Amino acid sequence: MIFNQLFDVKSSTYTYIIASDKGREALIIDPVIESTEEYLNLLNELNLKLVKVIDTHIHADHVTGLNELSKRTNCTKIMGEKSKSEVVDIKVKEDDKVKIDNIELKTIYTPGHTDCSYSFLMNDRVFTGDTLLINGTGRTDFQNGNAEDQYDSLFNKLLKLPEKTLVYPAHDYNGKKFSTIESEKKNNPRLQVNSISQYVDIMNNLNLANPKMMDIAVPANVKGLTLNQL
Ligand code: FE2
Repeated sequence: MIFNQLFDVKSSTYTYIIASDKGREALIIDPVIESTEEYLNLLNELNLKLVKVIDTHIHADHVTGLNELSKRTNCTKIMGEKSKSEVVDIKVKEDDKVKIDNIELKTIYTPGHTDCSYSFLMNDRVFTGDTLLINGTGRTDFQNGNAEDQYDSLFNKLLKLPEKTLVYPAHDYNGKKFSTIESEKKNNPRLQVNSISQYVDIMNNLNLANPKMMDIAVPANVKGLTLNQL
């Protein structure tokens, strides 16, 4: 398997390129539109064919590269069934599998950060979007976010994965590239709670400013804009 983790400095977003070294099919998770050329160059260098692209949720802090990549490569655009995107090709639900060659990702519905947040489990690693971050969790105060739902997604789904499972989030603001379920259980300050109400209390009192790009990014991501439409 080929696995690349790329970082967008402006939005602190991690993008993942996964590919099979036999069939040369590739999949990208959470691309950023401004980095489209970088992804295409890398795919080209590695002799890979992009066949699928996934967004874990409708992002508020950057414009997705989903639509530009699909326009350029004809790859299939995938999001969860609760996504408000008007342009995705396939909407997946809990337990649905996303496949390229011999690689399979299992869909886990993990609402809370937004109601359209999904995680994807691939063998020893899970792509958690903004549901579970390293030493943090995604804010729950917009886009139909809900702290109770997030508690359920975390404690009843993601934290029940095997402890050695590697955690690859959609963002990190401190230079950390990945974690494990075990480490997050032990060290993530948001997860050291005794009850759902304690968690909800923390999340409902974060008092964060809205992301700078929100008013541009959310409608662009719902409408599926490409570079020349921005
Ligand atoms: Fe997000």
